[in-house]
Amino acid sequence: MKELAESCTSRRSFLRFLAGSPLLSLVGVPSCTSRNSSGGGGDSGTSDLHDLGQLVSSPEDAINVFDFEAVARNTIPPAHFGYMATGVDDDATLRANRAGFGRLHLRPRRLVDVTSVDMSVELFGERWESPIVLAPAGSQRAFHPEGEAAVARAARSKGHLQLLSTVTTTSVEDVTEARGAPVWYQLYPTTRWAVTQALLRRAESAGCPVVVLTVDLPVGSNRETAERWARIDGRDCASCHAAAGDFAGYVRRKPMFDGLDLSGLTGLDTPGLTWDFVRRLKDNTNMLVVVKGIVTREDAARCLQHGADGIIVSNHGGRAEESGRATIRSLPEVVEAVAGQIPVLVDGGFRRGNDILKAMALGATAICIGRPYLWGLGAFGQPGVEAVLDILRAETELAMRLAGTPSIGAIDRSSVVRA
Ligand SMILES: Cc1cc2nc3c(=O)[nH]c(=O)nc-3n(C[C@H](O)[C@H](O)[C@H](O)COP(=O)(O)O)c2cc1C
Repeated sequence: MKELAESCTSRRSFLRFLAGSPLLSLVGVPSCTSRNSSGGGGDSGTSDLHDLGQLVSSPEDAINVFDFEAVARNTIPPAHFGYMATGVDDDATLRANRAGFGRLHLRPRRLVDVTSVDMSVELFGERWESPIVLAPAGSQRAFHPEGEAAVARAARSKGHLQLLSTVTTTSVEDVTEARGAPVWYQLYPTTRWAVTQALLRRAESAGCPVVVLTVDLPVGSNRETAERWARIDGRDCASCHAAAGDFAGYVRRKPMFDGLDLSGLTGLDTPGLTWDFVRRLKDNTNMLVVVKGIVTREDAARCLQHGADGIIVSNHGGRAEESGRATIRSLPEVVEAVAGQIPVLVDGGFRRGNDILKAMALGATAICIGRPYLWGLGAFGQPGVEAVLDILRAETELAMRLAGTPSIGAIDRSSVVRA
């Protein structure tokens, strides 16, 4: 015990010394990835303890979800970590997503019986134990060899809804089997309707009840942080990746495109996409259609007009446009426009139980996490994802207790106030 106390004291003195020293910039990852630089590359906002070697060696040792980010920085190859961590331009929107939560304060109520807490929510008639959903993220085998299947097993053991990306590196059939239940399928519209239709048919056959149409990337985006991380990765990318510009080669490596005629397919997104596409989807699938990437009241109203069954307020985790606006700031206007007619989910920067509580207070039906579970996956595989989910659920439960809101229904606009 004494030994531990002494080592803590000397570590603290060392940290104090280091904090004021130019040495700090020499520790850990290259400066382009520093949390304080505009180059971004990490979004924890925690102290620099992680960079000084205080990495957890097992999921059980993690104190919060950022502990997994710190480990994942070391376990995931640099180019792949950069792909996960990146925002766009100066990563301002990536940071804004986090900062937005700090601009909302809680208004806890006292002397409420919080002996038991019910954080369950309902989505399209199905009850989930918590409002925490796994957002779609492409290429998860870039973070861990078991990729989406490991995430599916974690979602199964912890009882969470999983959304599967169009550019998954594990097929929808294999993920459904690992999950032991259907997942929601995320769709990029693609430049060829025949390919889009084939993806829809395959998701339907796998039992997906919902297709999530992502609309926030009509064209590519400027991911400079990803580029910088890629430049420090000395491996030979050509052994796994198609050459730059070889789009057919890129999708051919994605299992959802197996066996499809890819001639004429030039992209997953199409700049010509308009609202008619939402109606077209509705008319061509028996899955419910949720639109992901909505951040304004005007577009929320259009979702309703075009028959969308749900909305995900999202800026793609700060990876699409550099709006500089947090999704938690966009949420109220979308909720207001929708007026309870369809569910409104939200993602972007959720890292703490308090963040989740704040979103529920602003009218979200559920929230999605992206990077935190990818950190867990990259750090420890399935047990890492499970631990991330455990931590976020425990934090949400504690936050609800401390706020005097023992059920999701008890959380409302009066639970928060603008800072
Ligand atoms: C590595 C990575 C890959 C992603 N791939 C997709 C994707 O294929 N489709 C999609 O709709 N969103 C994708 N997203 C966005 C996420 O679904 C989600 O909107 C975002 O990660 C939420 O922000 P957070 O990471 O701060 O939690 C991706 C995000 C990351 C970090």
